[in-house]
Amino acid sequence: MSGNVPRRLGILVSGSGTNLQVIIDRIESGEIIAEIACVISNKADAFALTRAAKHGIPVVIHENTKFTDRRSYDAATVDILNKFKVDLVVLAGFMRILTDVMVNAFPNAIMNIHPALLPSFQGLHAQQQALDYGVRYSGCTVHFVDGGTDTGPIIMQTVVPVEQDDTETTLSLRIQKAEHQTFTTAIKLFVDGKIRVDGRKVIIYQ
Ligand code: GRF
Repeated sequence: MSGNVPRRLGILVSGSGTNLQVIIDRIESGEIIAEIACVISNKADAFALTRAAKHGIPVVIHENTKFTDRRSYDAATVDILNKFKVDLVVLAGFMRILTDVMVNAFPNAIMNIHPALLPSFQGLHAQQQALDYGVRYSGCTVHFVDGGTDTGPIIMQTVVPVEQDDTETTLSLRIQKAEHQTFTTAIKLFVDGKIRVDGRKVIIYQ
């Protein structure tokens, strides 16, 4: 790993792309030294694609509906990521579970953001799960992706209070603010070479 060559990010999206936007902004401001090699979306109408194109970032519409099974979709995704010489895969609201094909191609080099304090409230609708359970605090988790769903080694977490009158929308907005900060901090640590994985534990060197 060369200290002088900016790391190349491949960002996978499915939706609005607010996390993508913050990553773009922090790279453009020089806070994160990295290059977004490509943005890949499994949805042709994802607003994240518009955000990327506006900043001149190569975009790839890679629809899962064109594939018969998840492993062949992931194999094609790996080909795209390799073509763009990606070092770190960032799942920024990519609403698909990865198979071993992706996970094995990028060991400890796929990061995901989840809108809860893992291992609580894995999977979909994590904010509503937190409200239904009645927790006083939730938050967000950035983790490496392993073979499970939201189970990989945890890089960073931020705690967010749950208010008594919260709805899924209000809690999601509060968590989203924390996501933007937490995700970009974790990406910066990675591209600066300050993260090492030891089994389930992620060691961060400041
Ligand atoms: C975020 O809530 C993230 O935690 C989840 O998907 C959402 C993506 O939001 N994995 P955005 O597309 O970045 O706005």
